[in-house]
Amino acid sequence: MQLDVFTLVPHAFAWLTEQRPVSTVLGGELDLRLFSYRDSTPLRNGQVDDEPYGGGAGMVLRVDVVAAALDAVYGGAPGHRVVALSPQGPQLTQQIVEELASEERLTLLSARFEGFDERIVEHLASEALSIGPYVLSNGDLPAMVLVDAIARRLPGALSEGSGEIESFSAELSGGLEYPHYTRPAEFRGWQVPDVLLSGDHARIEGWRKEHVR
Ligand SMILES: C[S@@+](CC[C@H](N)C(=O)[O-])C[C@H]1O[C@@H](n2cnc3c(N)ncnc32)[C@H](O)[C@@H]1O
Repeated sequence: MQLDVFTLVPHAFAWLTEQRPVSTVLGGELDLRLFSYRDSTPLRNGQVDDEPYGGGAGMVLRVDVVAAALDAVYGGAPGHRVVALSPQGPQLTQQIVEELASEERLTLLSARFEGFDERIVEHLASEALSIGPYVLSNGDLPAMVLVDAIARRLPGALSEGSGEIESFSAELSGGLEYPHYTRPAEFRGWQVPDVLLSGDHARIEGWRKEHVR
């Protein structure tokens, strides 16, 4: 999958690219490309945003800057999904993550300050997506959330079996995964459920099914 992120801080993604599972699939199933709006801005001095028409606080990411960035990379409107990260979009779910992870190409647009000139969302993006009902300072953490959530759904990202049965998966009918425990079996009087120590796989399976939330 080719996953392109347009941002003002490509270097901020360095940490993410060193972490599993992103690092595992990078260069293989995942081709992650990071582009700065500043590299292609048609404005002087690397300007990318401007004051809002009608007045008010903050700066707004300019439509001509984002159009120039997309033109520079794709030579025109990309023929694939372009997601504008915005608290005003529909909220991300695991179902949307699965859908996005099956795309061959995907573009994420990050903004900051007051956000996007609305024409970016209307005409340059195919959709907006929010990572939750709260406001962050910029779209870079949301973009990283998406990159991580998508990367872990790509083939080979996770060790065998660890990606199939988890919270929100079809295997758990969209529910939350059962509780996990590890050693020690007792700590401060807090016991691991006996059934999990029994070695009886059928009973363990039954217990886990009962404890899907
Ligand atoms: C400070 S926010 C802009 C908030 C906007 N003025 C509003 O009130 O809806 C700046 C940028 O951060 C990103 N952002 C902030 N919160 C987000 C969220 N929950 N989901 C996705 N992106 C978010 C978006 O790219 C947004 O344009």
